[in-house]
Amino acid sequence: MKSCCVKRCALWALILLLCRMPVRAVAQEDLLPLDIAILEDPMDLLRLVNRDNLLDKRYPDQSEACYKLERVNLPVTRGKHLLRAVANDALEALFAAAKAEEIELYVGSAYRAYRNQEVIYYNRVKRLGYDDGYSQMAGASEHQTGLAVDVVSGDYKRVFEVEFGETREGVWLRENCARFGFILRYPQDKEDITGIRYEPWHLRYVGEEAAAYIMDNGLTLEEFSAARIRTLGAYYGDAQAMNDDAQLRWQLAAQDAQQGDS
Ligand code: DAL
Ligand code: ZN
Repeated sequence: MKSCCVKRCALWALILLLCRMPVRAVAQEDLLPLDIAILEDPMDLLRLVNRDNLLDKRYPDQSEACYKLERVNLPVTRGKHLLRAVANDALEALFAAAKAEEIELYVGSAYRAYRNQEVIYYNRVKRLGYDDGYSQMAGASEHQTGLAVDVVSGDYKRVFEVEFGETREGVWLRENCARFGFILRYPQDKEDITGIRYEPWHLRYVGEEAAAYIMDNGLTLEEFSAARIRTLGAYYGDAQAMNDDAQLRWQLAAQDAQQGDS
């Protein structure tokens, strides 16, 4: 009986050591208060794209239904544009809400293929003679996801300038985009984190819950992604520990039953 007790204690100590200690090393305030089903991101809406997290040339795979790009039927500065259906629907709702408040918006750019971005980046750097931090190199642009869109007002249709952020339309966009699942991806004073200068026109679709959290807390997608990884790590650590707890309880109950039988 005594040796059984010692074994149980040793097993509990081992579980605590293997499962619980790393979990508790993460402070609760570092974890995101969002549903795990959202953080698991089955629709690939939270994908972090930047110079350290490049997209493959073939992304997004058009043979997969959820990645399908569709035509944007909204006022544009020029040209034709595509977006992933989920972002397109959200953008239509955003434009309708803006219109209801007499805010007139235009789509400047949406999905851009890898090759397109390659040309844009090359031309910009060639024209300026240096990389001014307004354009991403191919693979690093989230325009390739089909979830990013540049939105401006009539006054900024020709040249996108940071002053747009202080116009009635720019302020409305910043204050309301999260309601429709979008974030301002390149906020002011976060250039050191995003590597990209302030772009008050560049919206990125991430879904309503994540967007509300990101915008309310003044985060970048880089910061949110780090917290997301911590949260998933802690959750799976916990889930694993709970699993082990349950398994151990079951084993001990089985042992007890056997001892009772003998
Ligand atoms: N202008 C944004 C950063 C892009 O090129 O993706
Ligand atoms: Zn953009």
